[in-house]
Amino acid sequence: MAKENLSRTVGRRREMRPAELWKLKQPKVGEVPGPRQSEINARTGMSSIPVIKNAGGLWIEDHDGNIFMDAVSGRCAVNIGHCHPRIMKLLGSMTVTHGVHESRVALSERLKEITPGNWEKTTSLALSGSGACDAALKYSRWATGRPRVIAFAGAYHGTTYGAMAVSSYKNSMIEGFGPHIPGVSHFPYPNRFRSPFTGEQDGDISEKVISLMKYAFDTYLPPEEVGAMFFEPVAGDAGWIFPDRGFVQALADLCHKHGIYFVSEEVQTGYGRTGEMWGIENYDVTPEVIVLGKAMGGGLPMSGIVGKLEDDLVNRRFPHGHTFSGNPVSCKASVENISIIEDENLVSNSKTIGRKVLDGLEKIRDDSAIICRAEGMGMLLTLEVGSRNNPRPDYATKIVEECYKRGVYTLNMGAWGTGCIRIAPPLVMTAEQASVLVDTLAESISEVEKNEHLHTSNS
Ligand SMILES: Cc1ncc(COP(=O)(O)O)c(C=O)c1O
Repeated sequence: MAKENLSRTVGRRREMRPAELWKLKQPKVGEVPGPRQSEINARTGMSSIPVIKNAGGLWIEDHDGNIFMDAVSGRCAVNIGHCHPRIMKLLGSMTVTHGVHESRVALSERLKEITPGNWEKTTSLALSGSGACDAALKYSRWATGRPRVIAFAGAYHGTTYGAMAVSSYKNSMIEGFGPHIPGVSHFPYPNRFRSPFTGEQDGDISEKVISLMKYAFDTYLPPEEVGAMFFEPVAGDAGWIFPDRGFVQALADLCHKHGIYFVSEEVQTGYGRTGEMWGIENYDVTPEVIVLGKAMGGGLPMSGIVGKLEDDLVNRRFPHGHTFSGNPVSCKASVENISIIEDENLVSNSKTIGRKVLDGLEKIRDDSAIICRAEGMGMLLTLEVGSRNNPRPDYATKIVEECYKRGVYTLNMGAWGTGCIRIAPPLVMTAEQASVLVDTLAESISEVEKNEHLHTSNS
């Protein structure tokens, strides 16, 4: 049987091992969704999301033997690729135990080494991004003695009460859960594409946001009561909004002027995702607190914060933690994850391959009638669907479905009713695989345009 046909013999193909999956160059799909996936979809109500049976590198295999490129890295949780052989080997040699373990100490030391800030630091671990945001909120209040917090509109920081208080992603995430933690003031995140001041017009609103903040400081938000400013270096779930460098630096200046901790929320932007180890490094800003999660454990649950330790706190312990937050399995994997990123030069690969993908996305935008924005930083990229004044999340969903049929798993989301395709593959992606991704996106978008009888020129 020809190779081509073999790859389509879904159901009869033997399951692939993670090591074999790592070597794949392109997706292998037949009937999508296949019978097992359809049966699971009926139970979950989900669609266009492969239910994973096996995974390796960029690839996930579903229960029907279809193999998809994971263009979202398990929602940015596996920057080093699924089932990295070094993580798998380490897991095989682990004793399942609990108590004080050297790996917890080693992780803390490594985190202090690799995060920005030439000062004394402390670390605190949690097991989710939400938990780490809560820790950052508590740490900032505890360390500064100040109760108020600044956060940004559209941000998604998680679902626990602290994380929910600083988030402002969608009403549906907060409705019915009040009362919420008080003391949080939200400001607009400068979205060049969709200004809250001018409605549908675009343009740089960075200066306006800074003025608004200064205005607040002079009237109803005493800056000496503000302990923290929660900031995502790229606003993620809001629709992948990339702020100007000058804006981020102006925010940092305001923080330093008023003694406010700049909290860089790097749950999604950390660990090489944006072409630097930390997203905030793209702006030459040094945060007092950095929040980590998702990719931290190399696929295992782990999150945490690294905070500046002021002189008066050196002899005090930040009284926060969870029974399993420093568990040896996740700690060891997290230390190994850092070494893998370093040994395999994944930060620089993120920059190089990310640039290649972005070139492709820009061409797609230029050729397409339904893509109005192509942006990215390292391997955190997006295509926004619709037009500036007429977002089309419905088309975005159709594009995601077409990608799925062609063996590329992606997602779409965005605040304010936008449909932004999430493109965040594992950082181990090669140039060849990047072309497969871009070609599949282009084909899927053309298919939607054809089905919707749209012209493929950006008029
Ligand atoms: C930027 C950001 N912060 C925090 C979180 C919450 O992380 P978790 O789902 O691990 O609680 C997410 C999750 O998507 C996120 O994208």
